[in-house]
Amino acid sequence: MKSTNFPIGIFDSGIGGTSIWKEITTLLPNEHTIYLSDSKNAPYGEKSKQEIIDLSVKNTEFLLAQNCKLIVVACNTATTNAIQYLREKYNVPFIGIEPAIKPASLKTKTNKIGILATKGTLNSALFEKTSSTINKQIIVKETIGTGLVELIEEGQINSDKMKSLLSLYINPLLNEGVDCLVLGCTHYPYLIPQIRELVGNKIEIIDSGQAVAKQTKVVLEKNLLLKTDTKKGKHQFYINKNKDVLAMMISEKSDFISIDEKEF
Ligand code: DGL
Repeated sequence: MKSTNFPIGIFDSGIGGTSIWKEITTLLPNEHTIYLSDSKNAPYGEKSKQEIIDLSVKNTEFLLAQNCKLIVVACNTATTNAIQYLREKYNVPFIGIEPAIKPASLKTKTNKIGILATKGTLNSALFEKTSSTINKQIIVKETIGTGLVELIEEGQINSDKMKSLLSLYINPLLNEGVDCLVLGCTHYPYLIPQIRELVGNKIEIIDSGQAVAKQTKVVLEKNLLLKTDTKKGKHQFYINKNKDVLAMMISEKSDFISIDEKEF
């Protein structure tokens, strides 16, 4: 029996899932969390489905060994390729993240939406299934964000290389007339200021972070796993590569945090 005081486990191929961790800890400030950043193996988006499943199993077992009461797969690529397998294999609730194309399909006025995501996400059967449920009149322009995750992992968020890659990927979408851009990778919310600079106020940028946090709360409540006391949560981060960029990304939330750089 899991205790309400046990931590929420969160994993991503790297540091991008901290964008989800921030939403979760903002909504649920009293929950303890353990975040696993598998940066040594990033990017997942270029790997086969089986490799993504194997890495997701490794990450899940690491978190379960530390008594996590629920696991958030804070990675679109791991969710779309591995969550079904994880749900069948482990007896713990899993929350996943998928590109928000459904909300975008309800917002678009031009009936054209753009999505920026990894190859692994866009090629997955789960993404295809979700895409098939949206209104057929809506055209979804898919773009693989090759190289973006690697640059973010290196902390090159404002570099010229980042700016030129973003122009290369997003300008064609603007020329096609999209009015919504879905960020289908948890690393990409860190690029919103740069994307905004590129697109001005012409398009809506949509990501799933807040929806994931809300869903985490709903599932904790449903399973009677919500922490009941009002003491602030503690947050443990594990990363299997240099921790400097991760530390920088979560620096504004530095209370009750510790970061451990180790092999796993
Ligand atoms: N943050 C991961 C995602 O949401 C990045 C994937 C990758 O490592 O390629 O898909």
